[in-house]
Amino acid sequence: MRKPIIAGNWKMYKSFDEAVEFAEAVREQVPSEDKVDAVICAPALYLPTLVDVATETDLAIGAQNMHFENEGAFTGEISPSQLASINVDYVILGHSERREYFNETDEAVNKKVRAALINGIVPIICCGETLEERESGQTEEKVSTQVTAALEGFTPEEVKHMVIAYEPIWAIGTGKTATADDANHVCGKIREVVEGLYGQEAAESIRIQYGGSVKPENIDELLSKEHIDGALVGGASLKVDSYLKLLEAA
Ligand code: G3P
Repeated sequence: MRKPIIAGNWKMYKSFDEAVEFAEAVREQVPSEDKVDAVICAPALYLPTLVDVATETDLAIGAQNMHFENEGAFTGEISPSQLASINVDYVILGHSERREYFNETDEAVNKKVRAALINGIVPIICCGETLEERESGQTEEKVSTQVTAALEGFTPEEVKHMVIAYEPIWAIGTGKTATADDANHVCGKIREVVEGLYGQEAAESIRIQYGGSVKPENIDELLSKEHIDGALVGGASLKVDSYLKLLEAA
């Protein structure tokens, strides 16, 4: 039985005060960690404070990106060991916005996944197709290529603890959600890819989230599907009420 994981991706939203206010409001209300992993992936600037606010609660804090090197002359970057040093638990890697606007490649994502594991951070590895790719029947090939590249060179034991987020690009921030059946179908294909690479145990253990216009109104149906183990949520994670509703659904 896989534990659901609901992660908010705040992207480049919220002032510092708004971020702290949010974390203070939800930290005592998030369901127990035994039932669901509740994560907020906040702008990097706010992470140390949010980690403090969330200490000894069931709320976990994640980053939205990181470099793959632990240190070096990489002006403006944040390293995995720096994130680990302030007790960040999760990191989103290979989000389509990073791939599209910051030229993040499959190879870089793979290096980042390794760096996350070495530093004890759980990677949330994103994949997903464009509308054009979907319409031309290339969805499965696209996600399979991305997942295979991101997961290259690990052991089945390492893979078991990773999280994959299937986020069709055309569903992000558009209000258009993949139907629960479609999302489940692609998440099932991703699980098959993991099984082909690392065997049945890894495939049954790895958690696969759906992302793309997830909200309190559609989360129940998505989570009722066999291969959907949670959600990576943008817009609906920005408000205390809707974030808590998403957690309750899980
Ligand atoms: O990473 C989450 C995201 O890209 C989905 O955003 O606003 O469609 O929930 P949204």
